[in-house]
Amino acid sequence: MGLIATIGKKEKKEIPSLDELIVMGNYKTMRNILITGGAGFIGSHVVRLFCRTYPDYRIYNLDKLTYAGNLENLKDVAAECPNYRFIKGDICDLDHMRRIFGEYGIDGVIHLAAESHVDRSIRDPFAFAQTNVLGTLSLLQAAREAWADDMEGKLFYHVSTDEVYGSLHEPGTFFVETTSYDPQSPYSASKASSDHFVRAFGNTYGLPVVVSNCSNNYGPNQFPEKLIPLFINNIRHGKPLPVYGTGENVRDWLYVIDHARAIDTIFHRGRVGETYNIGGFNEWRNIDLIRVMIRTADRLLGNPEGHSDGLITYVQDRAGHDLRYAIDSTKLHEELGWEPSLQFEEGIEKTIRWYLDNQEWLDNITSGAYERYYAEMYGNK
Ligand code: NAD
Ligand code: DAU
Repeated sequence: MGLIATIGKKEKKEIPSLDELIVMGNYKTMRNILITGGAGFIGSHVVRLFCRTYPDYRIYNLDKLTYAGNLENLKDVAAECPNYRFIKGDICDLDHMRRIFGEYGIDGVIHLAAESHVDRSIRDPFAFAQTNVLGTLSLLQAAREAWADDMEGKLFYHVSTDEVYGSLHEPGTFFVETTSYDPQSPYSASKASSDHFVRAFGNTYGLPVVVSNCSNNYGPNQFPEKLIPLFINNIRHGKPLPVYGTGENVRDWLYVIDHARAIDTIFHRGRVGETYNIGGFNEWRNIDLIRVMIRTADRLLGNPEGHSDGLITYVQDRAGHDLRYAIDSTKLHEELGWEPSLQFEEGIEKTIRWYLDNQEWLDNITSGAYERYYAEMYGNK
C-alpha cells in the first residue's frame, strides 16, 4: 500500500485547561470575526465550524466569488445560522476593507482568501501576486488602521501552506516551523511573500498576528481542478486520469475538517506572533493514492475491481513540480493538544462517497451554472 511514512505521534504533554489559558491571557475572546475566502473549499468548512460552535460570535464571510468561490458550499449555514453574514468583496479593495472593519467592529480576522491552484499560477503569476500578496497587504493595512488605538484582544490569523518551505528530497526529513522558506512555484512564492508581510506587520506595527502552514487538504467541496476531486469526477465519467510525470511525487494529506479544527484551536489558544505547522503525518505517492481512489470509487460505483485502472494516463509533468512535502506538526500537538480526528482510509472513503452523492454540486461547477447564477445575483462576475 502507498502510505510511505508515518512517524509515531509523540506522547501527549499536559495541555493547559481552558481556565488556565484564560488566566495566562492566551484564550482570545474576539466576537466579530471576518473570515476571508469563506466560499472556497477550506474557508467554507471554517465558516461552518465557527458559526455552529460559537453562536455568540458574528461571522462575516468576505469573498470575491472568483471561479473557486461557491456559496452553495454554505447554503446550510446561510439557512440555519443567524450569526452568519456574507459580504461580496475583493481583499485588494483597501477602501472596502476599511469600511468593513469600521462598520462591523471586526476584532478577529481569519484570512484564507487566495488564488490557490499551482497550475493556474504557472499560467498567470500576476493574478497570484495581486490577490495573495497585495490583497493580504490591504487586509493587513485595514486591520492596522482599525486597531491602531487598541491592539489588545485583536488577532489577525493568516492561513498559509507548507509549499512555502519548498521541496523535500532527503527521505525522513520534515518541514518544521523554523525551516527556511524556499518557494518553488509562483503560487508558493506569492504565499511566502504574504507570510513575510504578515510577520513584518507584527514586528513593525505590533499587529497581533499568527500564521499556520498546512499540508494538502482533502474532503468535500474542493474545486474539481485539484487532484482528488478531479480524479473522482473523471472516474465517474470514465475519463482519463492525467498523472503528471511519473506519479512519484509525494503529498501529505489532511482531512479538511481537521484543518478547520486546527484553525479554531490556534485562533483561540495559539500564542500571538507564533507559527504553527498543521499536518497529519500522512504521506502518499500520487500514484499510490490514485490507485486507492480508483479501487474505492469502483467499489462504491458497483464496478468490478480493476474496471477503471486503464484510465491512468501519464502526461507531461507540471513545470517545476515539487517532489515531496511532509509536515511535522509536533509543536501544535504538544503545545495546544490538536491532533487529526480521522484516519486516512476513513477520510478518503468519506470523501469519495461525498462526491458521488453530490453529483449535482460537481455538475453545477463543471457546467459553469453556479457562476452564471452569481453573475445574475451579484453582477460583475
Ligand atoms: P479555494 O481556491 O478553494 O478558495 C479560495 C477562496 O478565496 C474562494 O472562495 C475565492 O472566491 C476567494 N478569493 C479569491 N480571491 C479573492 C479576493 N481577491 N478577494 C476575496 N476573496 C477571494 O482555496 P482553498 O483550497 O480553500 O485554500 C484556502 C486557503 O488555504 C488559501 O490561502 C490556501 O493558500 C491555503 N491552503 C490551502 C491548502 C489546500 O490543500 N487546499 C493547504 C494549505 C493552505
Ligand atoms: O500543500 C498544500 C497545497 O496543496 C496548497 O497550498 C494548494 O493550495 C493546494 O492546491 C495543494 O497543492 P498541490 O499542487 O499539491 O495540489 P494538487 O491537487 O494540484 O496536486 C496534488 C499532486 O497531484 C501534485 O503532485 C500534482 C499532481 N497532479 C495534480 C493534478 C491536478 C497530477 O498528477 N495530475 C493532476 O491532474
